[in-house]
Amino acid sequence: MADPDMIPQVQPWLEDDEARAAAQAVADNWITEGPRSQEFSDRLNKLIGVPYGVFAPNGTLALALALLAVGIKPGDEIIIPDITFIGSATAAILVGAVPVFVDVERQTFQIDIAKAEAAVTKKTRAVMPVHLYGTACDMDGVASFAKRHGLKVVEDAAQGICVSFKNRHVGGLGDAGCFSFFADKTLTTGEGGYVACNDEDVYTQLRLLRNQGRLDRGSFIHPAIGFNFRMTDMQAAVGLAQFNKLDRIMAAKSQILEWYRQGFDGLGQVRMLSNAPNANHVPFRCVLIAQNAHALMEHLSKSGVQTRGFFYPMHKQPCFADLARQHANRHAFDDANFPNAVFGYENGLCLPIFPTLTHDQVQHITSAIRQYYS
Ligand SMILES: Cc1ncc(COP(=O)(O)O)c(C=O)c1O
Repeated sequence: MADPDMIPQVQPWLEDDEARAAAQAVADNWITEGPRSQEFSDRLNKLIGVPYGVFAPNGTLALALALLAVGIKPGDEIIIPDITFIGSATAAILVGAVPVFVDVERQTFQIDIAKAEAAVTKKTRAVMPVHLYGTACDMDGVASFAKRHGLKVVEDAAQGICVSFKNRHVGGLGDAGCFSFFADKTLTTGEGGYVACNDEDVYTQLRLLRNQGRLDRGSFIHPAIGFNFRMTDMQAAVGLAQFNKLDRIMAAKSQILEWYRQGFDGLGQVRMLSNAPNANHVPFRCVLIAQNAHALMEHLSKSGVQTRGFFYPMHKQPCFADLARQHANRHAFDDANFPNAVFGYENGLCLPIFPTLTHDQVQHITSAIRQYYS
């Protein structure tokens, strides 16, 4: 149970509409993927601007499914930014591929595609730009890098609902784009994921892979090897209810961001992360680069505010120690290769920005931060 005296880091915005929608799926006795999943998928495709898409149980499995569908094989190397959620990298591991980490940009913390050149080897097959913290990577840079080296582009748009690059929704800009509907995402179904794509052959692969190697259910003859990556119609029902209030969710997030901006006005010790060039900003968290970030987090915890750190750099993750040991270059995982990722981790923190956060709560948070620096 959440501590009622703490302002939580995340809180899904679930109302009667979501409860009624899920209950209706149960009342209609249709709980596996069905009419609601179809409608949810149609609306997602329209939003993202793609002709095709399939659900997955969560964002991590959406990424694994997408990697398989674009033809990634065991031993292939995938270029991934050093600052991301661990699921980007473990999705690669799940399909037998090798994640290769590249530093991020200092201002935006999106992948620094210029630095990716040095990471390309004979085994590199894909790049996974991660649209982080509610803004977007330089997808022009990613596209020309991928073209130059003949790589697939699998976008990690797990945090990217309503995020765009040059006015085009992320997740529809590469060979496949993956979303998460976990409870802290702009649009949630509790758990859930989605893979969007433009190419009919990729779509066919996605359908085969997610449904035991068949294009339709009901047959026990399986033309291909596939698995079960399906979702439920109860989740889709919740997703549709969330879709109906997407405008309100977006409006609430930008209002809260504005309250934070006002609260930090003139405070030189903090910098709020905002949109990357050519991209908009639909904040996934209110990310601050702050003086003494880790001590500030402790102060906020004592002031009743739950914070989160910046993502921990992938090259430092204990779970990837073997990757570091096996790497041909024994210096490949040194901090010196990832100065911006290390900087982000040491100086970054995340404040809550869920839609039901009130003005009073934001004022409490910004006052506590001002008090810390006073
Ligand atoms: C950037 C990124 N990639 C992948 C994921 C994995 O999504 P899920 O938690 O739905 O598996 C997340 C989830 O937070 C994420 O933020």
